Amino acid sequence: MAEQNEILLKIDKIYNPPEKVLKKALISKEKFDELYEKSIKDTENFWEKLAEKELHWFEKWDKVFEWNYPTYKWFINGKLNITYNCLDRHVENGKRNKIAYIWTDEDGNEKKYTYGELLELVNKIANGLKSLGIKKGDRVVIYMPLVIEQLATMLACARIGAIHSVVYAGFSASALKMRIEDAKAKIVITSTWTKRRGKKIDLKSVVDEAVKELDFVEKIVVLQREGDNLTLEENEIDFYKLIKNQSPNCTPEIMDAEDPLFILYTSGSTGKPKGVLHTTGGYNLYTHITTKYVFDIHEDDIFWCTADPGWITGHSYMVYGPLSVGVTSIIAEGAPDYPDPGRWWSIIEKYRVNIFYTAPTAIRLFMKYGEQWPAKYDLSSLRILGSVGEPINPEAWIWYYENIGRKNCSIVDTWWQTETGGHMITTVPAYPQKPGKAGKPFFGIEADVVDKNGNPVKPNEVGYLVIKKPWPSALRTCWGEPERFNKYWSEISQYYFAGDMATKDEDGYIMILGRADDVINVSGHRIGTAEVESALVAHEAVAEAAVIGIPHEIKGESIKAFVILKQGIEITDELKGDIKQCVRKELGSLAVPDEIEFVEKLPKTRSGKIMRRVLKAKELGMPLGDISTLED
Ligand code: WTA
Repeated sequence: MAEQNEILLKIDKIYNPPEKVLKKALISKEKFDELYEKSIKDTENFWEKLAEKELHWFEKWDKVFEWNYPTYKWFINGKLNITYNCLDRHVENGKRNKIAYIWTDEDGNEKKYTYGELLELVNKIANGLKSLGIKKGDRVVIYMPLVIEQLATMLACARIGAIHSVVYAGFSASALKMRIEDAKAKIVITSTWTKRRGKKIDLKSVVDEAVKELDFVEKIVVLQREGDNLTLEENEIDFYKLIKNQSPNCTPEIMDAEDPLFILYTSGSTGKPKGVLHTTGGYNLYTHITTKYVFDIHEDDIFWCTADPGWITGHSYMVYGPLSVGVTSIIAEGAPDYPDPGRWWSIIEKYRVNIFYTAPTAIRLFMKYGEQWPAKYDLSSLRILGSVGEPINPEAWIWYYENIGRKNCSIVDTWWQTETGGHMITTVPAYPQKPGKAGKPFFGIEADVVDKNGNPVKPNEVGYLVIKKPWPSALRTCWGEPERFNKYWSEISQYYFAGDMATKDEDGYIMILGRADDVINVSGHRIGTAEVESALVAHEAVAEAAVIGIPHEIKGESIKAFVILKQGIEITDELKGDIKQCVRKELGSLAVPDEIEFVEKLPKTRSGKIMRRVLKAKELGMPLGDISTLED
C-alpha cells in the first residue's frame, strides 16, 4: 500500500529536465513554445526556412505546399537526393572520417564505418543494382538482418531512385511473399542468416520459399556471412560478387521532392497490410528536424536506436534522420538480453551512448530482470532516453527514469506511426515531462482530441486523436490502394485519423490510450486481427476464428484466439500447437496467439460481423456494453 502511494505521488509529478539537459539543449521550453506558435501560424514559411537551411537541394521548389484534399504535396518541383543529404555533404564538409555506424552483435564483435566508407559502399551497391537493370521507380525488397549492408542497401536504392520495401526478417515466407507480390519487386536482397540468442536463423530459405511462384522476380542477391559458402542458383547472385568491381562513385539520381522513396507495409484493422508510401523531400526534412530537436543531437553525440529497419522507427531514426543530421549511431544485431540481461547496458557503457531510444516492452522486460543489472554499469554518458511503439505505463517510465537515466536524463515519449513518417507528439528534452503522457504536438503539427464528428472533447475526456492538416512526412498514398489512403482523411471530419484514442489535459499534454480499432499492439508491433484470423482459418481443422488483444505484463498486449473447429475434430494439445504453427507459417512468430480457446460459437452482429469487443469485455470481466446488435 505504501509502495502504491509512493508510485502515485511520482506519477502525478511533473518532471523538470535536469541541468545536464538544459545546459546543452538546442531549444529551451520558451523557444519551443515560441517556434511552435510560428510553425502553426505560418506553417509554409516555417518549413521553407528550415528546408533552405538544413538540406541541400539541386533545384529549389516553386511552391512549398499544395493541398487538393485529400492529396497533398510539399516542395513542389524541388529536386534533391536524400543520400546526398545523408552522405555526400558530410563527406565534403570535413566529416569523411567521422563514424557513421558502429555495429555490434551478441558475441561482442564490432565493426565501424565512417561516412566516407559508407558512401563508397552505398555507391558500389547502387552501381551493382544498376548493372542488374534496376532503374528509378523499380521496387526492391530487402529481407536482411541488422548489418551495415542492410542499411547501405536501402541507401543504394535511394541513390538511384529505386523504391525500397524493407521486410522485417522475422516475417514468414508467406508474409514476405505477399509483400513482394504486392509491390511487384524485380529484385529481392537477402542474407544467409541472422543470429539471435546464440542461434542462427536461416533467412535465405524463407526467401526461397517466398519467391517460388513469383516469376516476375528477376534476381535474388544473397549476402553470405562469415563462414558461408552457398552454391547459388542461376537467378541468384552473391552480394559482394555483385559489388566487387563496381565503381565507388555513383552520381545521385535527381529526385523530385514528391518522387517515392520507400514503401513500408503495416497492419490495419481490415484486410491485408497496406503499403504506406513515403516520398523524398518532405520525409527528408521532417525526419531530419525531428531527429535534431527531439533527440537534441550535438556533433559529438553517440545515438542508439534499438529498432530494426524492418519497422518505420528504423527507417526514420536509424537511417535517414541520423545520417541526414550527421550523427554517429550504434546498431546492435541480436536480442537485448543475450548472453545476459546486461548486454544493452554494457553497450551504453562501452560506447558512451548519450541518447538511447527504445520501446516500453523492452523496458518492462528489464524491470523484470531487476535493477541490479543496469546498476552494474556506468550509464553516466546518457542524457536523453526515448520511448516509442506503445503507451509507456507510468511505472515503466519511472523505472526507466530512475534506473537507466539515474534521475539525470530527460525522457522523450514519442507518439507517431508508420504513416506519419516522424515524431508527432512528444516533449523536446528541455520541456517538463509527465510520466505516461506523450506530451505536445511537434512543430507544424496541429493535433487534437475530438469526438466522432471532429469536435474537441473537454480536457481529460477520452476522444480520437487527429491531426488537422498534412505535414511534410505524411504518407502520400497506400501502394495500389488509394481508397485506403483516403480513409485516413475521411473517417473523422477531414482530419487525419489513424486509429488511436487519447486524452488532453489542461496543460495541453496528450496521453495516448491505445488503438480504437481492431489492431493489436504486441511488443510495439502492429498486428491486424483480420490477418491473424485468416491465418488461423488457413488451418484445415479450423472453421472460424476471432482474435483479441489482452493486457500482457511485458508485451503490452498479447493475442488470444477463439476458434471454432470443423465438425468431428477432436481437441488435443497437439492440435493447439499445430494451429499456432500454422500462424507462424502464415505470418511469423510475432503474430502467434499466446492462447487458443476452442468455442462453439462467436458473438456476432445480425449482419454477421464478429463482435470482438464483446469477447474482450467477457475475457477481462468488464461490462459488455451495448449488445443490442448481437445476433443472439
Ligand atoms: C502506437 C511506430 C503510445 C500507437 C512508430 C500508434 C504509441 C502505433 C506510441 C503506430 C507512443 C506508437 N505512445 N502509443 N509513444 N508510439 N504508438 O506504425 O497505437 O508501428 O498508432 O509506428 O503504435 O505503430 P507503428
